[in-house]
Order: sequence, then C-alpha cells, then structure tokens
Amino acid sequence: MSKLYFPRCTRVGSTALWDILSRRALVFLRILQFPQKIRGKMSDRGKQGDNVHDAAKKNILAEFQALFFAMRSLSSYPWHSFERALQRADSSQIFVELLERTCLHPVCQKKPPSAKYRRRFLTELIKRVGASSSRSACSFFVVDLCFYQHVCFVLFLNPQHEATASEPLDELYDALAVVLASEEQCVCYKSYFLPAGGAITLAENEATISEGTTGMVTWEAALYLAEWALGNPQAFQHRVVLELGSGMGLAGVAVCRSCHPKRYTFSDCHPGVLRRLRDNVKLNGLEDPGGPRVAVEELDWGAVADERLRDLRPDTVIAADVVYDPDVIDTLVSLLRRLLAIPVLTRPSDIYIASAVRNPDTYAYFRRQCGKVGLRHQVLTEPVARIFPYNRTSAIEMIRLHL
Ligand SMILES: C[S@@+](CC[C@H](N)C(=O)[O-])C[C@H]1O[C@@H](n2cnc3c(N)ncnc32)[C@H](O)[C@@H]1O
Repeated sequence: MSKLYFPRCTRVGSTALWDILSRRALVFLRILQFPQKIRGKMSDRGKQGDNVHDAAKKNILAEFQALFFAMRSLSSYPWHSFERALQRADSSQIFVELLERTCLHPVCQKKPPSAKYRRRFLTELIKRVGASSSRSACSFFVVDLCFYQHVCFVLFLNPQHEATASEPLDELYDALAVVLASEEQCVCYKSYFLPAGGAITLAENEATISEGTTGMVTWEAALYLAEWALGNPQAFQHRVVLELGSGMGLAGVAVCRSCHPKRYTFSDCHPGVLRRLRDNVKLNGLEDPGGPRVAVEELDWGAVADERLRDLRPDTVIAADVVYDPDVIDTLVSLLRRLLAIPVLTRPSDIYIASAVRNPDTYAYFRRQCGKVGLRHQVLTEPVARIFPYNRTSAIEMIRLHL
C-alpha cells in the first residue's frame, strides 16, 4: 500500500482549515512516533554507520529548512538525498523532523513564507514521499503510512463527508490549494538563519519588481554582502555605517546583529521600501536597547545635501545590488565620490559595493565612471563562507572603493 487517502475537507474557513491541519499534523506526528516505539523493540540492526547517516540527515534537514524559509525554488531542494533517506528504516523520523523544521517550525507559525509557497512545498513533499514509499514497499515508512492512514480518517474526518478510498491525497491538496489561494497576499516573510543561532526575518513582496521598485525583495548581492560581513566583522566594528539603497534590510540587519557597528543608518529613496524597511528593523529587534544606534532614512542619491552627508559622517559605506540601471549610475558614482571626500575622524572611509553582474556592459560602465572621478577600486576575492541559500549562477563582485 503506497498511497494515502484523506477525506475531503469542506466548508471550513481558510485560516481555520490551516489551523486544523497544523494541529492535526501535530497529532499525526505523535501517532507516527507510536509505531517507532514498537519498531525500536523489533530491530537493533543498522546501529553501525548510524553516525554517518545522522550527519547526512542533519545536513539534508538544515538545507531544507534554509531553502524553505528563504522561499527558494522547489527545484533547488535536495530531493534525491531526501528520497534516499526515506528508504532507510528511520524514514518516518526524517519525515517528521522535516515537517518540524519547516511547516511546523515556530518561525513558520509566527512569520510564515507565503501560503502559496507552503502549499507548493507540501504538495511536492507528498509527491516525493508517495514516490519513495511505492519504490520501497518494505520500508517502515510504509508501515507508518498505513497506520497513519487508518487514524487520519478519524482525525481529519468531516462528519458531513465520509471518506472513501477513492479520494487520493492529491485531492486534499487541490482542495487546500483553493482555500489557501483565497488568503494569499503579496507580502510574505522570508527568514535567513544565522550561523550563531537565530534568524533574520523580513517581510518582503513575492514579486521581484512591485510597487514600481526592485526594493521590495532581498537580492543575491545583499545575501553575499551579509556573508562577507559575517566573515569580516572588523570592517564594521565600532564604525559609523551608512547603507545606500537598503531595500528590505538584509545586509544591514546581519551587520547590526553580528558585527557590532557603533551606528548604522539604513537608507533608500522609495516610500514603500522605507515603510517596509522600518517594519523589518523593528521586527528584528534592532530598536531594542543594548545594540548599535540604528536609523532608517530617506536618502536619494541625486538629492542628498552635502550638509546631511557631513552630519552622517560615515566611516564605512555599503551597498548591495545598486548597479543595475545605467540611468542612475552617474548619480550614484557622484555620491560615492562626495562621501569619500568627507573628512572622518579615524581613517579614510571605506566603501564596499556588492553587485550581481547581470549585464557586464552596465557594470563596466559603472567601473569606468568610478575611474573618471578618481575613485580607485579593489576587487575583494577572498572566499566567502556560504551561509544563506540563493541562486549563485550570476557572478557577484564585491569591490572596495577608495581615493
Ligand atoms: C535592486 S534593489 C537592492 C536592494 C537591497 N540592497 C538588496 O540588495 O536586496 C535597489 C535599491 O536601490 C534603491 N534605489 C534606487 N535608486 C535610488 C536612488 N536614486 N536613491 C536611493 N535609493 C535608490 C531602490 O529603491 C532599491 O531599494
């Protein structure tokens, strides 16, 4: 028996349905643990090599968790490794743990990825589990599923609708999809786990361009810049940092959480981006006492006065993914030149720019314009630890600008 059958859930509000499903899923988890106890008595085999498998399992789960909370493409998940793990005797355990690290994780309860994404993830998960259990008919996981199948009829049962074996799991999720679609919003939460523990959670839009700006999502260069910062905290420690074009704030939150700057100013020019950025700064506790002094400011590269720049007097300036529009490159370069001309108390200011080089001509133009105003650059090539999940197919270049 390889398929699970669920009763159809009807006439339940979308939020209520999700609540019911989550709670039922928890009960399901407990039930899954029951046959494992029996199993424990049945078999002691396979103890050797468990450590190797445990390490592999841990890696798979960590990867799933990171990808799920960053809402990365489902095709980037290590499905094959997961399916291989399902062939093992502790298959139900990994399935349970996977749910606990994703849909049932406390972060997901409070600040979840979009409903559409969670539905697509669960649908794919069920598909993979189904395929895997049909391939390994003697897996303990199938035993669990059969056991679960009996119980879930009772647990999920809508009294007005009797379940029959002709209603496959896919139908449940089709129904769920319809319900969840009705509560979909353009804002969702993405969480990025930090190596030292905890996560950066940001409210972002799903679409890469929305509200007339590219600033409502986190871009790859910001994730790269954050990874670089986590490996080079001394570049920010006790420093007055200004970030240009902060967008949703990922790089800045990472720096404030891990690199101990003295003061950190997030900035952008778009009113919608600034509103969301303020929310994200609050959401991540950066306004709490004890941390660096943090501000979120409107700062338009073409309109900011010299006086304001002198007031800010940053000794470190950072920006991620700001070199994408040839029309604003001259304005940006002119601001960078003005920033380097401001006298600072300690040492000459540092400017770090991380860019995903999508259009080599646009990027070459930026570098040429920097050269024309006397800005020299150094490409930072030291390896950066891979911490966050993102698409690494576009080349990302990080430079330090100086006079
Ligand atoms: C591609 S997004 C990058 C956002 C963020 N740094 C990241 O990498 O996730 C570019 C950001 O630059 C901001 N921006 C564009 N032109 C600007 C200008 N003239 N002044 C200030 N910010 C600007 C946009 O509003 C947007 O938030």
